[in-house]
Amino acid sequence: MSHVALRPSERGFTPREHGGFGGHVCGGRVGGAPQSPPQRIAGCAMSELVRARGLCKGYGAGERRVEVLRGLNLSVEHGEMLAIVGPSGVGKSTLLHLIGLLDRPDAGELRIFDADVSALSVEERASWRNRRLGFVFQFHALLPEFSLEENVAMPLLIAGRPRKTAFAAARELVAAVGLAHRREHFPDELSGGEQQRGAVARALVAEPELLLADEPTGNLDAANADALFSLLQELHLSRSLTSVIVTHHEALASRCGRTVRLTGAAVEEVCSKT
Ligand SMILES: Nc1ncnc2c1ncn2[C@@H]1O[C@H](COP(=O)(O)OP(=O)(O)OP(=O)(O)O)[C@@H](O)[C@H]1O
Ligand SMILES: [Mg+2]
Repeated sequence: MSHVALRPSERGFTPREHGGFGGHVCGGRVGGAPQSPPQRIAGCAMSELVRARGLCKGYGAGERRVEVLRGLNLSVEHGEMLAIVGPSGVGKSTLLHLIGLLDRPDAGELRIFDADVSALSVEERASWRNRRLGFVFQFHALLPEFSLEENVAMPLLIAGRPRKTAFAAARELVAAVGLAHRREHFPDELSGGEQQRGAVARALVAEPELLLADEPTGNLDAANADALFSLLQELHLSRSLTSVIVTHHEALASRCGRTVRLTGAAVEEVCSKT
């Protein structure tokens, strides 16, 4: 589990502010290779949804200072399902939290949806987290005092959508993740796999473009991990998402379109099916 400390205003989902391989080494969009600028074609989405260049992030000060990301380059293409793997402590959660606007880089360029995120105001960052980004954490992070359906509706309620609309959307998504029969139950009345499916529903209820999942199956047994990954794949396709999934499960990562391995400062492309 990540130990990344977040500013209170950047913890992501709170009631006040929401605003989660094997193969050959391939060349391409990683590790400092020359990059062509994001393409914009009339009527088409840009090809690069996330662009990190020279990204640096560390924690602490003085002798306790830990440099985690040291000049990292990564591109995530529009519509791709990308797996990020790498040893514990290498900075996978750190990277995902930067892309998810839950934390800020120390240096380097980070562009998401073709915008320089360092230029976003606190309000814009919160709004993007609420509407444009869906985050799934290793531990579901559903709010214990609310029912599953209320948890899933929460991002829309926070965004100011009418209760009726928010609950109708939540009901539909709860059903889409196979939990219609559990919608009035509270998180502690659900199994681990059900809680994670609920967390996926909550991450997607505001119809984000980018889904970020940090070890979403890390707390599940093999069968539940497999089922949750299938659900993520299904929703990725049916909702035309761009998905970035951190996982320790190489077999699950191999089901993504591309896998990159984080190794200290570099991102190494492990496998690409495209
Ligand atoms: N708030 C913090 N203060 C100090 N060090 C931190 C903080 N958050 C993370 N770190 C350190 O940064 C490094 C990267 O942490 P991170 O959580 O990103 O790793 P990870 O690759 O996600 O690991 P895991 O696979 O175990 O989840 C680790 O060495 C961790 O101890
Ligand atoms: Mg982590």
